[in-house]
Amino acid sequence: MHHATQVQLLKKALALADQGLSDGAETASALPVSRYLDEPRYLRERDQVLFKEPLLVARSTEIAAGHFLTRDLLAPLLLSRDASGRLRAFLNVCKHRGTQLVSEASGPNRVFVCPYHGWSYNPDGQLRGIPHAYGFADIERACLNLTEVPLAERFGAVWVRHSPGPALDLERFFGEQIIADFDSFAVESHVLFDPQDIRRPVNWKLTIDTFLENYHVAKAHQATIDHLFWPNLGLFERHGRHIRNFYVKRNLRELRELPESQWNLRRHGNLLYFIWPNTLVLVEPDHLDFSTVFPEGPLATRVLGHTLLEQAPASDKALRYFQRNNQILYGALEEDFAMAARVQAGIRAGASPQLWHGRYEVALRWFHQELDAALEDLPEGG
Ligand code: FES
Ligand SMILES: [Fe+2]
Repeated sequence: MHHATQVQLLKKALALADQGLSDGAETASALPVSRYLDEPRYLRERDQVLFKEPLLVARSTEIAAGHFLTRDLLAPLLLSRDASGRLRAFLNVCKHRGTQLVSEASGPNRVFVCPYHGWSYNPDGQLRGIPHAYGFADIERACLNLTEVPLAERFGAVWVRHSPGPALDLERFFGEQIIADFDSFAVESHVLFDPQDIRRPVNWKLTIDTFLENYHVAKAHQATIDHLFWPNLGLFERHGRHIRNFYVKRNLRELRELPESQWNLRRHGNLLYFIWPNTLVLVEPDHLDFSTVFPEGPLATRVLGHTLLEQAPASDKALRYFQRNNQILYGALEEDFAMAARVQAGIRAGASPQLWHGRYEVALRWFHQELDAALEDLPEGG
């Protein structure tokens, strides 16, 4: 991140700390609890938003040239990289009668043969052979290739739209600010460490909500990370449909002892990016944590967690340090899941038709506003 931006954010944080306030909206706001309970609403979010946007599904390094990877997320996906390095994504579904085609998690590219009647496909998705092919001779061959879905790579990650559509324009999708920031962190050259795949019985939006404010840290994370953070002091900015938060640490005022030229934002707080519609990126002093949140039903969340390090741990000491870091991170995430589960149980009781977002919970308001706007763009069932 540009040093000038770091200084600007830190000055804003210092001024707010002096006033005893957090950044936020002018007023509190309400959100109907039906957003988390209503099954038709969940299906619209899944089909009209999550199926239509580029979602992070893997790290680029998880698929070497000449290899494939499968991943069952919103739909079964087959990612295959050819010898020249070009990566393609397909729905992992045989076009004869819809069987899931490849069952292995990963491996070298090969001819993919359907286990049901033996139709075979090349790694580029082209139909290769049909046993007793005369039975299908009157069907146009081209429509029997695997269904390709749009894919692009950026920030060392693979972004896939889970349904067919136009090519992805990730430069436009992320926008200038996110690209400038992430390029400055050299996300692309980081290495994957200790990937996680976590499932918990809560609505996917409740999982995202827990990341978007730091108001809860003093209470919900009292025993784990509260000692690091300035109580309820955050900066919140909207960048298109994405959000950049800065959660200030207790060491903020040490800055006053340093010349501005030595100010380093990452020492005095964590940046937390929300990348529309379901990825969260925590920027810590010496590593990054990506969490991508997928629904598996109205009351089921799956989180793919990617910790990224500047280099693979070079010693046992470094390894233990980053393992300990992830224990803390995922320990705090479990505390968040526990609260999300309590919310899920609580809002069903009908105590109130809405819940409240305080002024400093403005990032939650933005997230839910964007979802509302995305759904209103499309007619019911459209
Ligand atoms: S369903 Fe795949 S070959 Fe029949
Ligand atoms: Fe939390």
